[in-house]
Amino acid sequence: MNLSNTSSSYGAVAKSFHWLIALLILTMFPLGFVADTMAQSLRAGADTGVDTVVFLFSLHKTLGVAIFFVALARILWALSQTRPGLLHPDRKAEAFLAHAIHWVLYGSLVLVPLSGWIHNAATTGFAPIWWPFGQGLPFVPTDEGVAAFFGGLHKVLVYVLGGAVGLHVAGALKHHVIDRDATLRRMLPGRVAAAAPVAASHGPAPFAAALVIWAVAIGIGAAAGYLPVRGTAAEAPKLEAAAMDWQVETGTLGITVTQLGKPVEGSFADWTAAITFEEPVAPGPAGEVKVTVSIPSLTLGSVTEQAMAADFFDAENHPTAEFAGKIEKTADGYVATGPLTIKGQSVPLTLPFTLAIDGDTATMSGEAEVNRLDFGLGKSMPDEGSVGFTVAIKVALTASRTSH
Ligand code: HEM
Ligand code: HEM
Repeated sequence: MNLSNTSSSYGAVAKSFHWLIALLILTMFPLGFVADTMAQSLRAGADTGVDTVVFLFSLHKTLGVAIFFVALARILWALSQTRPGLLHPDRKAEAFLAHAIHWVLYGSLVLVPLSGWIHNAATTGFAPIWWPFGQGLPFVPTDEGVAAFFGGLHKVLVYVLGGAVGLHVAGALKHHVIDRDATLRRMLPGRVAAAAPVAASHGPAPFAAALVIWAVAIGIGAAAGYLPVRGTAAEAPKLEAAAMDWQVETGTLGITVTQLGKPVEGSFADWTAAITFEEPVAPGPAGEVKVTVSIPSLTLGSVTEQAMAADFFDAENHPTAEFAGKIEKTADGYVATGPLTIKGQSVPLTLPFTLAIDGDTATMSGEAEVNRLDFGLGKSMPDEGSVGFTVAIKVALTASRTSH
């Protein structure tokens, strides 16, 4: 068999590429749907093994990136080749449709994995691509809004690819079963004795038709809400500003969890702190602080929804967390000590912090570590393989004095 195409049949290289990619693509569909469905039921609080979902997604992403590179090689090869001619040049509409679908297929082989890959690069946490080159991509910011957009685009492009493969296979079978011609046989292994076909026309119209198909699909996808322009905004109940003699002006409340051995950082967008504080001359009591945190305002990489689920924060039943601490000046800094209540469980917390007061403005920052199991978070993951036990809490704020 020839390695290269001839005017009547595909060569061994084109055939190998075709069937290798067909096999991979047909594996990716069930893999993507099963992984996505399991991830959704996990978010809804089901007992599905997180490890299985992570495994399936990592497999999906790694195979998908492999397809991307095989597809590039295939496209470069196809550009260097003659294309076997048309077996039925008189059936103009059929030939046009077949060519347009070939363009959609070729384009999809690049666009589908690329959109998934950009989604993966923009998000943090969850299932990694199994390779040593990192998860990021140049020019792709780590941003949940970008991740959500490309996740949605991936789905829309996947549906276009699915429809195109369906039409393509139906066409191939029609040629084989109804027309009984050599269309399928000349793509199968082995030599085919076929009538010399008429050279295929390579006008730009089929390509333009493919572009229209994508544009329409993206339009429908956007209208159906698949392509959020902003990130998935947390539906957080707005907390009332707390009464205090120090008013928090700016601040961040962040947490870092370890997922699959890698740190995933997150932060709460909505929290309040009621602070009474009087600088004592010597080490001793200095005031009180009460922090109320809106749990649904947490963004935690790509695992925000998992974090809200019943097994973790159970945001629906426990929408706020609280810390009520007594502030003390120590020999070398400050410390707030008191119960931290998450998901109805109170555990004593000691939060050492630094404080600088400049006139009526105070700047503080502090860090502490807690064990998620103390609060009953992630009981379904009693070992550290998927999610580590230690959760680091980091708080930094500036406050201004409101009463003297
Ligand atoms: C040719 C390659 C690929 C095909 C055919 C494919 C197919 C699919 C399918 C069928 C789904 C399920 C869609 C749904 O449930 O509506 C999916 C989801 C997903 N795929 Fe792919 N995929 C490919 C490549 C990739 C790559 C390379 C990555 C990442 C590196 C990736 C990441 C994802 C992610 C994260 C989801 C879930 C999307 C979400 O929930 O927003 N995929 N893919
Ligand atoms: C199992 C299902 C499949 C069957 C039975 C099938 C059959 C065929 C046949 C018979 C041809 C030759 C058409 C002609 O000579 O005019 C062809 C070409 C082609 N097929 Fe498939 N195919 C399948 C899956 C796929 C998949 C999944 C893809 C890509 C996503 C794909 C992409 C293409 C492309 C781009 C061509 C144009 C020829 C080339 O330039 O390599 N096919 N296919």
